[in-house]
Amino acid sequence: MAGPVFVIAVICWSLITISSQQQNTSQNGPATQKDATILILGAGMTGITAAKTLHDKGYRNFIILEGSNRIGGRISETQIGNYIVEGGAAWIHGSGTNPLLTLAKRFNLSYVATHYEDYGVRDGSGRDVTDEFAIRYNTSFGPAFKYFKNYTKESRAISRTDFTIRSALLMGGWRPQSAVDDLIEFFNIDFSYAYAADVVSGLHAYIYEAYDAYNTTDDLTVNDVRGYSHIVRSLHAEFISDGDQRLRLNEVVTDIEQTDEGIVVRTKDNVTYSADHVLVTFSIGVLQNNDVRFSPPLPAWKREAIHQFQQALLMHVYVQFAEKFWDDHEFILYASERRNYFNIWHNIDKTLPGSKILQVSVVGDEVKRLERLKDTEIISELLSVLRTMYSDRTVSEPIAYNIPRWYSNPLFRGAFSNWPPGYTINTFSNLQAPVGKIFFAGEYSDRFNYGYIQAAYLSALRVVDNIEECLRKPGACDVTTRPKENYHECNDHTRQMYSANQEDEDGTCSFDECPVSSSSLHLSPDFDIFISKLVIAFLLRCFIL
Ligand SMILES: *[C@@H]1O[C@H](CO)[C@@H](O)[C@H](O)[C@H]1NC(C)=O
Ligand SMILES: *[C@@H]1O[C@H](CO)[C@@H](O)[C@H](O)[C@H]1NC(C)=O
Ligand SMILES: *[C@@H]1O[C@H](CO)[C@@H](O)[C@H](O)[C@H]1NC(C)=O
Ligand SMILES: *[C@@H]1O[C@H](CO)[C@@H](O)[C@H](O)[C@H]1NC(C)=O
Ligand SMILES: *[C@@H]1O[C@H](CO)[C@@H](O)[C@H](O)[C@H]1NC(C)=O
Ligand SMILES: *[C@@H]1O[C@H](CO)[C@@H](O)[C@H](O)[C@H]1NC(C)=O
Repeated sequence: MAGPVFVIAVICWSLITISSQQQNTSQNGPATQKDATILILGAGMTGITAAKTLHDKGYRNFIILEGSNRIGGRISETQIGNYIVEGGAAWIHGSGTNPLLTLAKRFNLSYVATHYEDYGVRDGSGRDVTDEFAIRYNTSFGPAFKYFKNYTKESRAISRTDFTIRSALLMGGWRPQSAVDDLIEFFNIDFSYAYAADVVSGLHAYIYEAYDAYNTTDDLTVNDVRGYSHIVRSLHAEFISDGDQRLRLNEVVTDIEQTDEGIVVRTKDNVTYSADHVLVTFSIGVLQNNDVRFSPPLPAWKREAIHQFQQALLMHVYVQFAEKFWDDHEFILYASERRNYFNIWHNIDKTLPGSKILQVSVVGDEVKRLERLKDTEIISELLSVLRTMYSDRTVSEPIAYNIPRWYSNPLFRGAFSNWPPGYTINTFSNLQAPVGKIFFAGEYSDRFNYGYIQAAYLSALRVVDNIEECLRKPGACDVTTRPKENYHECNDHTRQMYSANQEDEDGTCSFDECPVSSSSLHLSPDFDIFISKLVIAFLLRCFIL
């Protein structure tokens, strides 16, 4: 089915495998034979899905380079006592028709429904304030949250510009006034996005749309002894056997050089790999941190798209006790005067019965602070919180703990992505776009599921389609065409503003992807003035450039 490319791929591959240690590349002399047609950088859900999809389509001449000693990426189980818990991704977000659930079922992954509604709340003096929490949720936050979701839907339908979740909650009447209120907000917003409502895009917080599309509101907690990454390993095992040299672990990529002849990737050990195409699946945090040097440097449109998106930080600390002293709820919440300070406790004893394990979550800058501390210092802070929450009970030292650190790990630099307010769909297209024959995919690069594992999976399917187009039409992807840089999203307002193409020599101010609509507009006088100012600013910009 795959025809000549497959045949060539197989021949290439045979030549290469004869000398699996081959390190010479086009850099060291005239380009003769490349190491692979496609290099896949990273063996997480994205990299493995992409490789499997290529394999299934008949493209077998790929090499996967993975920086760590395992596959799975940010899906990574870890041990505490005799139990396996999830150090990274821990949930299947959205059940229903979520493709991730299909995979989980196919590989017989074990999971249980997450019962967010089964919670108890204690405050800074150890008082049970669960009722106060529920009343404030029902009468104030809940309605505002509904308003926000509805406003998002409506705004997208009529192409409103972006707003923050905070502004929508305020419009919906939510004004937090107490530690309990802060906790309600934290549990519903920060615990999902790992960012506060003020810095999350209201328009693109597609999380709800993703759930709606899958006809579900459910989350599932993975509690499989093989770990959540069993899914990735199983996908991997479907197309590649153990010891196959196409998967190379402990290969930390440091440089990606693109020339007319192809691409050369260099690792920390100064080993080089040459290929026609490269798929980069690093996290947005790794890309932002310049851990990998691109030569030539990535163009400004790409760097802007990368640096303006956000890497969210989330830390799960696991502690195991000899005796279970806590309330019998799935979630135990702490209404502290200090926001984001060991507020959300997930009772793992519910998902792994008998384990006597608690998981506590912290997000954002607090993660940076904690990751700099020693394990024992973190445990001591966390214990003093538990002793405040349970001042009426004995909280002894834990018998085991496990503290995964994602932020300080240079291979990951955080947990998952966040869409910040004002980040446009056009910039997002630039985030997804290839640069020449360097392709990008990952958890951050699916518009409707970003932040979730299904996004990694779906982005891999999409990017393989793009790569395949290049493979099918040799030459088609030789020219690096720069995506259009639109300064405003294409909506009724911008259509009106930029009805004519305004393009300078390098296309900087081109808006020709913005189809002119004939729909009439009724703008307020204030808005007209605002628009005029924008147009003037815009024309000046074109002129100066
Ligand atoms: C790599 O190139 C060098 C010099 O060009 C040559 O001596 C060596 O044999 C080559 N190694 C392999 C594995 O091809
Ligand atoms: C799926 O897992 C369950 C236990 O989690 C086991 O009883 C069952 O045999 C497994 N089925 C398959 C097909 O592996
Ligand atoms: C809040 O609303 C939920 C769902 O409608 C209801 O079950 C619960 O009893 C309410 N709680 C309070 C304290 O009003
Ligand atoms: C949702 O928004 C629509 C307008 O787009 C409005 O008619 C409807 O009443 C809103 N629903 C709620 C529950 O706020
Ligand atoms: C969700 O449910 C609606 C109505 O029950 C149905 O029409 C739609 O096809 C479902 N969507 C998916 C993705 O299953
Ligand atoms: C890495 O290899 C290149 C040749 O491929 C060589 O020029 C360079 O000096 C090496 N760098 C280090 C740090 O070994």
